[in-house]
Amino acid sequence: MKGFFKLVVQSAVLGSVLTSVALAQNSTQARIATTTCSQLQSSLGSVIVQTTSGPDYTLGANSAWSSFNTEPNFQPTCIVFANSTEHVQVAMKAIYKNQANYAVQAGGHSGMPGWNNVQDGVLISFKNMNVTTYNATTDTITMQPGIKWGNASGILEPFGVSPVGGRYADVGTGLLLGGGLSFLSPAFGYACDTFVSLDVVLVNGTLVTATVDNEYADLFKALKGGASRFGIYPNSSSIALLEAISEFAFNASDTNGVTALAWQTTPNATTGGINIVAEAFFFYNGTEEMFNKTFASFLAIPFAKASLNRQSYIDMVDLLSEPRELGDTFINSVLVGSPSQTPTAVAPYVETFQLFNEFSATYLPSGDINYLFLLITPVLPSQIAYGYERGGNAIQPPVGKGGYNVFCFQVALNEGINVTPPALQAGREVFLKDVPNTPGFPLFISEIDATQNAYATYGDFEFVKKTYAKYDPTRFNVRHTVGPVGL
Ligand SMILES: Cc1cc2nc3c(=O)[nH]c(=O)nc-3n(C[C@H](O)[C@H](O)[C@H](O)COP(=O)(O)OP(=O)(O)OC[C@H]3O[C@@H](n4cnc5c(N)ncnc54)[C@H](O)[C@@H]3O)c2cc1C
Ligand SMILES: *[C@@H]1O[C@H](CO)[C@@H](O)[C@H](O)[C@H]1NC(C)=O
Ligand SMILES: *[C@@H]1O[C@H](CO)[C@@H](O)[C@H](O)[C@H]1NC(C)=O
Ligand SMILES: *[C@@H]1O[C@H](CO)[C@@H](O)[C@H](O)[C@H]1NC(C)=O
Ligand SMILES: *[C@@H]1O[C@H](CO)[C@@H](O)[C@H](O)[C@H]1NC(C)=O
Ligand SMILES: *[C@@H]1O[C@H](CO)[C@@H](O)[C@H](O)[C@H]1NC(C)=O
Ligand SMILES: *[C@@H]1O[C@H](CO)[C@@H](O)[C@H](O)[C@H]1NC(C)=O
Ligand SMILES: *[C@@H]1O[C@H](CO)[C@@H](O)[C@H](O)[C@H]1NC(C)=O
Ligand SMILES: *[C@@H]1O[C@H](CO)[C@@H](O)[C@H](O)[C@H]1NC(C)=O
Ligand SMILES: *[C@@H]1O[C@H](CO)[C@@H](O)[C@H](O)[C@H]1NC(C)=O
Ligand SMILES: *[C@@H]1O[C@H](CO)[C@@H](O)[C@H](O)[C@H]1NC(C)=O
Ligand SMILES: *[C@@H]1O[C@H](CO)[C@@H](O)[C@H](O)[C@H]1NC(C)=O
Repeated sequence: MKGFFKLVVQSAVLGSVLTSVALAQNSTQARIATTTCSQLQSSLGSVIVQTTSGPDYTLGANSAWSSFNTEPNFQPTCIVFANSTEHVQVAMKAIYKNQANYAVQAGGHSGMPGWNNVQDGVLISFKNMNVTTYNATTDTITMQPGIKWGNASGILEPFGVSPVGGRYADVGTGLLLGGGLSFLSPAFGYACDTFVSLDVVLVNGTLVTATVDNEYADLFKALKGGASRFGIYPNSSSIALLEAISEFAFNASDTNGVTALAWQTTPNATTGGINIVAEAFFFYNGTEEMFNKTFASFLAIPFAKASLNRQSYIDMVDLLSEPRELGDTFINSVLVGSPSQTPTAVAPYVETFQLFNEFSATYLPSGDINYLFLLITPVLPSQIAYGYERGGNAIQPPVGKGGYNVFCFQVALNEGINVTPPALQAGREVFLKDVPNTPGFPLFISEIDATQNAYATYGDFEFVKKTYAKYDPTRFNVRHTVGPVGL
């Protein structure tokens, strides 16, 4: 069952309209933050606005999933635990007026350093704004930004409704701002394509409600940043899996299902070598017969172990779980699908996989790495079409060229390592330079490296830039909070 979103977002910060350069961190900014925090404590009280001595401060400062974004790397001057849209407005008005640095945190899952926490600035935490309701008359879900997808799915299940949301229970609503890749995307588009209306707080504290056809329609568009199983495959099946997913993305026509493939490498302490596992997730809402047909090419590949029992959507939305409290970084790349499995067509897929293997062989022995991960998510032609049918989104992938695959390469460091060691960083830069990309297809902004300009790969970069300039004419957001580069 579907259900569309009405979401309260705090903005000009949002995935799509959000941007960044490194913040000027100096004693001036520290002083401005202190002033802003004491003003906010006077107006909102010391339960909503907490400094280091507040009872929830430590929890709030350490809620990010990646340890790169927690203490000691970031210690916000104060945390605004907003409990209403008005609190967000009051906070943004003061931040804007004083020219303070700030960050916003919803589910805390962003792996990008500084995107969801701040030093010498104000952190707006949505932890306590998590009301989620369903209106059957309008078939609309209303979510506050602090809810996580697992909890939202749990609240909505009794109504027979599933949100088009994350594949991992712990992820939050920031997913929508990056577009959002869901198991339900083949039928309902990017998660953001299901927006009905957005309550947006602009950088200066003004609240606007944006819909597909009101005076904020441009902002609305710009902000749009079963029977299911999974199997574990031996590494000897890897190339066949790459061939299958390349073809699947190109033109899979059944909108009831989608797959995702993931390789994980870890150091093997006993042998000094490398462990590698390939996992495939098959989400399907329909009969076993159709499941067999849609995923036939994957099911024909020899697997080591498969869970063939049916799983509910709720179970599926926690399949991509990964440990918290490690330092994480990402690199994103995209490859168009291919109508055939010829060696030429899949060569860039194999090349990407080999770069992953070479990186594993070179850097896993360093002892700094907990695991390396390569995740491939297909974006089907039906998902692309759905977005255009509903008024378009910021991403605007090409039409008529087939679907594409999103590759996410992730490095998860061992606990306690707060900075990527230089040699490893050099290796990441080489990976980024060498990894193949299909020009004209959009990068997935939620999982990019800090230097990747995803906006420039969107179908209409000028539209995104123009809309950003209209709603944040002084470029306050770019100057005072950290996010993707490019605007
Ligand atoms: C293990 C794992 C699994 C994932 N699975 C998926 C998946 O299945 N599909 C998918 O699409 N993505 C997935 N992602 C990526 C995920 O969508 C992004 O990391 C997303 O940004 C997380 O949102 P959040 O609310 O949890 O994180 P946060 O870090 O709180 O937010 C992410 C960014 O958005 C900003 N932000 C959040 N809320 C607001 C708001 N209301 N107003 C303004 N700015 C805001 C934050 O400042 C931050 O820059 C996954 C990531 C990980 C690490
Ligand atoms: C699953 O399919 C049924 C009927 O085919 C449909 O009513 C329901 O909305 C679908 N569920 C999801 C989660 O898409
Ligand atoms: C410190 O920050 C202020 C405010 O952002 C800025 O105007 C100033 O140039 C910065 N000073 C230094 C030395 O970077
Ligand atoms: C909502 O937030 C409150 C306060 O942080 C928490 O106690 C509660 O469990 C949350 N509810 C859900 C559904 O996540
Ligand atoms: C948030 O505000 C609502 C009333 O608007 C209140 O019921 C709830 O307890 C508050 N939650 C927190 C965590 O302060
Ligand atoms: C559901 O939406 C309808 C139409 O907007 C509205 O009249 C009704 O009050 C809403 N119901 C709830 C429970 O909010
Ligand atoms: C939210 O989900 C987590 C697991 O993801 C669970 O531990 C917690 O109990 C849930 N909270 C509520 C209020 O449902
Ligand atoms: C996995 O397979 C690839 C070839 O497909 C190979 O290059 C790589 O070394 C293998 N990895 C491990 C850890 O065996
Ligand atoms: C994709 O299209 C090719 C021919 O264009 C066809 O042979 C193949 O079966 C199609 N694959 C799917 C999954 O629909
Ligand atoms: C290390 O590798 C050996 C040989 O491949 C394997 O049997 C063992 O399970 C691996 N150890 C771990 C901890 O994965
Ligand atoms: C689906 O395929 C499995 C083998 O992978 C087979 O056991 C099962 O009978 C098939 N189901 C249908 C309905 O064709
Ligand atoms: C806030 O910014 C918007 C967009 O630039 C502008 O239209 C509005 O007038 C501003 N509001 C105030 C109170 O300055």
